[in-house]
Parts: sequence; structure tokens; C-alpha cells
Amino acid sequence: MIAVLLGPPGAGKGTQAKRLAEKMKALHLSSGDILRAEKAAGSELGKEAAGYMERGELVPDDLIIKMMLNRMTASDGKSIILDGFPRTLPQAEALDEGLNRHGLKIDAVVNIDVPDGEVERRMTGRRSCPTCGAVYHLEFAPPKTAGKCDKDGSDLVQRPDDTPEVVQRRLQTYHQQTQPLVDYYSRHGLVKDVDGTQSPDQVQAEVEAALA
Ligand code: AP5
Ligand code: MG
Repeated sequence: MIAVLLGPPGAGKGTQAKRLAEKMKALHLSSGDILRAEKAAGSELGKEAAGYMERGELVPDDLIIKMMLNRMTASDGKSIILDGFPRTLPQAEALDEGLNRHGLKIDAVVNIDVPDGEVERRMTGRRSCPTCGAVYHLEFAPPKTAGKCDKDGSDLVQRPDDTPEVVQRRLQTYHQQTQPLVDYYSRHGLVKDVDGTQSPDQVQAEVEAALA
């Protein structure tokens, strides 16, 4: 199965994708996580992407398409949960073409809806583990020990693009470039809407129902 999670920054795409991937033994491919890992490794791609990410703008399509399709073809036939990709119409078209070449297609697109006002609260309280990528929220999903990852005890960090100014730019970018994908996939009859303002468990139940 190939599923796409759509939604604004902070909708909970990463939170839900991790839960689903664990439960379904699927491969979770987050374009943002992959870019952050490239940046941390100091690769050419990471260096090229860094400026766009810090400004809350999208990294150029050609770089992202190559990066994601390469990872998808190395998935060994496992189910795939796409988180943060595609994010533009050219990316969506390239994904369709790439899958088509392998006789595959997208099975479902889950659109996690959260209003802009809620996004800011989510972003300013988010903390993540630089070692394992686990995501927390100071108020909504706190770690057992303040500032430490439950899984490996690493010091939690705040993402540099989670400042209020960059969050505003990311929201603008989302509305201009990514939201049109809801229509694109609706025309293909693939979109299932989920109310992302509920608790993480309730959202998970709706996402699972949408994929069943
Ligand atoms: P990316 O990393 O994908 O960022 P994003 O889309 O802005 O989404 P986030 O990761 O911020 O939010 P999320 O939906 O995963 O929410 P989360 O689960 O963490 O992209 C970063 C940058 O990389 C982009 O700006 C761009 O520059 C570049 N990039 C990436 N992909 C690209 C592409 N395809 N093309 C071009 N450029 C690309 O949850 C957020 C917080 O809320 C957490 O603290 C969490 O604990 C909490 N939370 C989650 N669910 C709930 C809930 N139900 N109730 C209360 N709190 C909740
Ligand atoms: Mg994410």
C-alpha cells in the first residue's frame, strides 16, 4: 500500500506516520526528516536545502523528486507512508509517473486538517529527539522526563524553523503551493479528510479508518 499524508505544518503528519508505520510494518518516508538528516551529515543536498528550509520555503522540485523516488524504489516491496511529499503539483505528477513505471499507484491520500491558529501553538511547543527523531510537545505530548527523549534519553531540541516568523512563512507556502494538491487528488477520488484537531489517538483512529 502507498499512502500520502497531506496537511499543513504541524498537522501531525509525522506523529501519525510514525504510529502507522510501526503498526503496519511500513516504511515511513518523511521528506523533511530526510532533508534534516542530509543537513546534519553535511552532504551537498543538505547544504543546498538548508537555506530554503530556514526561510520556510520549498526546496526545488528536481532535488526533492530525485531524493524521494530513489528512496521509494529501495523499499523492498514494503508498504510506504509518504509524509511531506509530494508538496507541489510537479512533485505529484512526477510521483504518479514514477509509480506508473513500476506498475504501482497511490492507494489513499489522507488530508489532516488543522486551522492556522492551532498550527502556531503546535510548532512553538514541539521538541524532537536528534538521535531517533521521536516528536514531543511540551503541553500535548510531553516526555516522561522534561527535556529528555523517552526512548534513548537524548536531550530534546527545537527545530530552527519553528520560530513564529518562519511558521507564518511555512503556512503561506503551504496554502499557495501544497493545498492545491487536495483538489488534484480529489479529482482522482483519493482524498479522505481527517479532523487533525482531535487527540493524537482519535486522529490515529480516523487515519486508520481512512486507510482500511
Ligand atoms: P517538514 O519537516 O515536512 O515540515 P512541515 O510540513 O512543515 O511539517 P512538520 O514536520 O512541521 O509538522 P507535522 O505535520 O509532521 O507535525 P508533527 O507530527 O511534528 O518540512 C520542513 C521543510 O523541509 C519545509 O519547510 C521545506 O523547506 C522542506 N521540504 C520538506 N519536504 C519538501 C518537499 N516535498 N518539497 C520541497 N521542500 C520540502 O506535530 C507537530 C507538533 O504537534 C508536535 O509537537 C506534536 O507532538 C504535536 N501534535 C501532533 N498531533 C497532535 C494532536 N493531535 N494534538 C495535539 N498536538 C499534536
Ligand atoms: Mg513532520
